[in-house]
Amino acid sequence: MTGPDVGDLERARGLLAEAGTICVLTGAGVSAESGVPTFRGESGLWKSHSPEELATPHAFRRDPRLVWEWYEWRRQKIRECRPNPGHEALARLALGPRRARIVTQNVDGLHEEAARTAAGSGDPSPALPLELHGSIFRVRCTSCAYRVSHRHPLQTETREDLPRCPVCSALLRPDVVWFGEALDPEILSEAFRVAREADLCLVAGTSALVHPAASVPMATVEAGGSMVEVNPTDTPLTHMARVSLRGPSGEILPQLLDWPESSGT
Ligand code: OAD
Repeated sequence: MTGPDVGDLERARGLLAEAGTICVLTGAGVSAESGVPTFRGESGLWKSHSPEELATPHAFRRDPRLVWEWYEWRRQKIRECRPNPGHEALARLALGPRRARIVTQNVDGLHEEAARTAAGSGDPSPALPLELHGSIFRVRCTSCAYRVSHRHPLQTETREDLPRCPVCSALLRPDVVWFGEALDPEILSEAFRVAREADLCLVAGTSALVHPAASVPMATVEAGGSMVEVNPTDTPLTHMARVSLRGPSGEILPQLLDWPESSGT
């Protein structure tokens, strides 16, 4: 079995054991082993679809049906996916006695599902992530403040099929952040607060190319904390990491987190 370097794993466990507060930043890679396509890389979504054509406010104004069709295709794929052992290990960490908070760029809802499963009949809220880029299973109005969870399949064959706001009849859109749009300022400032106050930032499955999300771990490091990265490849954050664990997060995160000292139990 291939795995991370044993010395690196031990060093990362040591850093986690010392950390009183932990910030976790995740990206599409943590859901790759669940079957959710990543954005970049050989089979990434942006290889076959241009972001400008599909994930911008301009694209939606020009052709809302095409944009909805792409999102419904992604929603359908994600509906079939379940959390993997990486999501599960992070949910246990966040529900455990350590002060750990998950910040994610993912819109797939898999951290939330893992949190609810791990909490059982208990309160999942400590393990619910701060979703920097929104949720693919929420819709919001393009005109008024209406916003609601929405998991069921949507019809996208004609423009007349597209979902409309029950309050003002304007088109509904996916409640995700598109290129050229600002992130929710409250969620963003909470994410940076969590990162600044953390002794350690655990970064998993992100190419760290999209800001401001990719700046979150820097806030931990600039405030004197350390960073541990989990990713099969180097990223622009690698040089700042105290330890880089090379490999898939669904295998590495349980090895890193499910042992007594790093889980704090
Ligand atoms: P990317 O697709 O850019 O990067 C995925 C990262 O996951 C890469 O660094 C891979 O090496 C790594 N990876 C692949 N398989 C993995 C595995 N099994 N375990 C761990 N890591 C793995 O995805 P993000 O960094 O999340 O934004 O992309 C950031 C943002 O760019 C997205 O949130 C999205 C996109 O444009 C918006 O849509 C606003």
